[in-house]
Amino acid sequence: MYTVPKLDDYSPAALDRAVADLFAALDAETAALHSDSDWKALRDRWLARKNGVLTQVNDTWLKAAPKEAKRDVGQRVNELKARAEAAIEGAHEKIHASSSDAKLAAERLDITLPGMQRPIGTKHPVLRVQDEIVAVFQAMGYSVGEGPEVETDYYNFESLNFPPNHPARDTQDTLFIAGQDSKPARDRLLLRTHTSPVQIRTMERQPPPVRIVIPGKVHRNDPLDATHSPVFHQVEGLAVDTNITFCDLKGTLDHAMKALFGSSVKTRFYPSFFPFTEPSADMQVSCIFCGGKGCRKCKFSGWIELLGCGMVDPNVFEFVKHNGYDSSKVSGFAFGMGVERIAMLKYGVEEIQLFYEGDVRFLEQFA
Ligand code: DAH
Repeated sequence: MYTVPKLDDYSPAALDRAVADLFAALDAETAALHSDSDWKALRDRWLARKNGVLTQVNDTWLKAAPKEAKRDVGQRVNELKARAEAAIEGAHEKIHASSSDAKLAAERLDITLPGMQRPIGTKHPVLRVQDEIVAVFQAMGYSVGEGPEVETDYYNFESLNFPPNHPARDTQDTLFIAGQDSKPARDRLLLRTHTSPVQIRTMERQPPPVRIVIPGKVHRNDPLDATHSPVFHQVEGLAVDTNITFCDLKGTLDHAMKALFGSSVKTRFYPSFFPFTEPSADMQVSCIFCGGKGCRKCKFSGWIELLGCGMVDPNVFEFVKHNGYDSSKVSGFAFGMGVERIAMLKYGVEEIQLFYEGDVRFLEQFA
């Protein structure tokens, strides 16, 4: 390794030689660098204020120089310092560039490696059944609509003929949005308890005739049990036209149930009550497990209750009478069904929670 020699000869030729020797040594040292830490060691050796090579040059060449040579030596030493510093800086950049080249080379994409297999997902069984129900009605000429999950009291209840404080509201345990008290009752926000509000929204948007199905998520303050979930899905249906009768309702739903459960399934309609239909009915299907003979699933009745329906109540048309819905001219039917319930029957699933737990072993059976 280079050490700074003492000079006895201060002639220009001797100084030239000394400087040339120093740079030959520095060049050799920088050429041998391999890493950042090599470079740091070199920098410290050459540039350290205390005892670095350049400091030694100052001490052994300049300070020891005879008076008459001082000027020349001083100038050479200054030049030499600047040149050496630049060379050491340059060596640093080179090291850096070559180490990042090496990094890039190591990270280069190797297209010969086997690919990573990402399992492809599939439609969730609830959405699958929802789409299937919608498709059955689309095939009968129905269009498909949607509405907001956060609704106003007006659409969810009032315009569907649930008067304020009417006990029928209690059958749908409602989740209200907090901090709405300063608003008029009808504008207060809530999570929709059914898809029926989209009936009114649809009729506000378009005059009759209407044939529409509305799939969507609904919310109720129900405790979770084997067949209830606070969040679930419904498909709503609405048909309004001149001369729509209960026969149309029965024929339409009977066809839909045969399309969903098979042609041997039977339907029957039982009197019921909903504020927005008159008359109202619960539709039952013959038990799809025992074919109607009676089993544990249908509680030995042979029938399973599946959905609510009825003829649109004239009071509902009153809320949209300015959009062409004159209850002396048009009539309609409506229905609403729970998607999870239908999915559970179709697939024989006994716990509604299985749909929401995200257990792949359950879900992949429907793939
Ligand atoms: N919205 C009712 C519910 O969630 C279901 C329903 C009943 C919808 C009768 C209808 C209907 O459109 O006519 O319980």
